[in-house]
Amino acid sequence: MPQQIEDVIERIGGLKALDGISGTAGGWVQRATRSGAVKNALSGTWLGHPLHPVLSDLPIGAWIMASTLDVTAGRTGATSARRLVGVGLIATLPTAAAGASDWSDAYGATQRVGFVHAVSNAAATALQAASWVARRRGRHRTGVALSGVGLGITVCAAYLGGYLTLVRGMGVNHTAFQEPVTDWTDVAALSALGDGKPLRVTPGGVPVVLVRHEGAVYALSATCTHAGGPLDEGKVAHDGCLICPWHGSVFRLEDGKAMRGPASVDEPSWEVKVDDGRIYVRSATA
Ligand code: FES
Repeated sequence: MPQQIEDVIERIGGLKALDGISGTAGGWVQRATRSGAVKNALSGTWLGHPLHPVLSDLPIGAWIMASTLDVTAGRTGATSARRLVGVGLIATLPTAAAGASDWSDAYGATQRVGFVHAVSNAAATALQAASWVARRRGRHRTGVALSGVGLGITVCAAYLGGYLTLVRGMGVNHTAFQEPVTDWTDVAALSALGDGKPLRVTPGGVPVVLVRHEGAVYALSATCTHAGGPLDEGKVAHDGCLICPWHGSVFRLEDGKAMRGPASVDEPSWEVKVDDGRIYVRSATA
């Protein structure tokens, strides 16, 4: 990343003056997404992939195509370009909702940069909306100009979005780089594992949480796939799931399936065997 751009983004991340408005907006979003069904829908838990980056291609793609038509086809492509601007506007609704849900779980510099990303996108959307109205009223050149400026802002906002994911790790699977442990590894005495009390062990240096529930012993990776929360500090639910202490993602003990967002990626599960009072684990992929 060019140094000047990096400096600007670092400065945005350090703007503590944003914390008041950003925190208030984050609180509203968290209240609006409190329901498990809403959080799962917006996080992409049902999809097994974060939803926001999938949807964001739609408005960006539509607006790029509209501006391409403006440049290459002029008034001949005016109707198609106006429709593409409209398609992009419609697509911003679910895209913004999914992004806001993801952003509301961030904090510190990540939340500040995310706030500027959101405000930039809102400004770009307002310009595209004004462009659509202008085009509809026959003011083609005004519409083209508004779309061009809006698309420029969208590109800057998309850069910030890429920074949030690729540099700050927002939305990435936090277990992605864990190496599987293929050999059965002795990790604890069965007597050390209380019912419903998670225990952290580290076979091969990988953090794993052991849970005894209704007589069975389960093992999942202890680093939450969502943002790296310590699952060994989470709570065991009566329905055989483990709840992350950071943002409340719920994983099924039996196989690590993400049952509630914000996590969209399942937690890696481990095979378990008990022999002579000792617990052994190995990666389920072994
Ligand atoms: S770290 Fe966010 S739910 Fe676990």
